[in-house]
Amino acid sequence: MKKTKIIAIDGPSSSGKSTIAKLIARHFDYTYIDSGSIYRAITYIAVKHNLIDNFKIDTLAIIEILKKTSISFSFNSKNQNIISVDGVELDNEIRTFKISSLVSLIAEKNEIRQYVVKIQKDISINKSVVMDGRDIGSIVFPNADVKFYLDASLEKRSERRWMELQNIEDVSLDDVKNDLHKRDLKDLNREFSPLVKPKNSITVNSDNLSIEQVVYNMIKIIDKVLHS
Ligand code: DC
Repeated sequence: MKKTKIIAIDGPSSSGKSTIAKLIARHFDYTYIDSGSIYRAITYIAVKHNLIDNFKIDTLAIIEILKKTSISFSFNSKNQNIISVDGVELDNEIRTFKISSLVSLIAEKNEIRQYVVKIQKDISINKSVVMDGRDIGSIVFPNADVKFYLDASLEKRSERRWMELQNIEDVSLDDVKNDLHKRDLKDLNREFSPLVKPKNSITVNSDNLSIEQVVYNMIKIIDKVLHS
């Protein structure tokens, strides 16, 4: 049987991971999994059930709801990764500024992370995947075939995120920058599965490179590692 491959891409928010991971997955005909969308979907569920109040979350109640909830992935005609909760597709509603500003509260809870890691492992069974996130090469798939740490400055990341949000809602560049900075601090300093450069990962800084250049460089590295 052909051995399936795992390409792990970690890095801070808005470093270009999802755009780049999608293009790499398309090139190798692997499945792209956006692991941040799982944390975002759980945040959306928690907000919907009023389980986040004044930046405090009711973890036990969220876990109880998750036990009765199905979170799944499907792919649209453009092979884009769509997350569904109980069969209902979620897209822009999990990318809003509100969900972005609350998701770190969810992602720092170990019980929730364990639930997400199980989903991540289950969807990668018998498939070659490119998965992006914060703990893919360190915790979820420490034996991934190739591990990347995709980095970019706070300025560049804020501009990119702000541009993306233009299609969704009206928010200032300063607000986006402050929120990203707060999320960086949370992702880097949280107790469970903080954002780290995974052991044996290759760091790529996208500040002065176009998406095409980054993808080209990463594909060359993957080809070399997989065929050496
Ligand atoms: O990549 P993103 O911005 O969509 O991720 C949303 C949040 O989920 C982010 O604040 C960090 C968290 N996350 C995580 O802790 N671990 C992952 N593997 C993916 C995302």
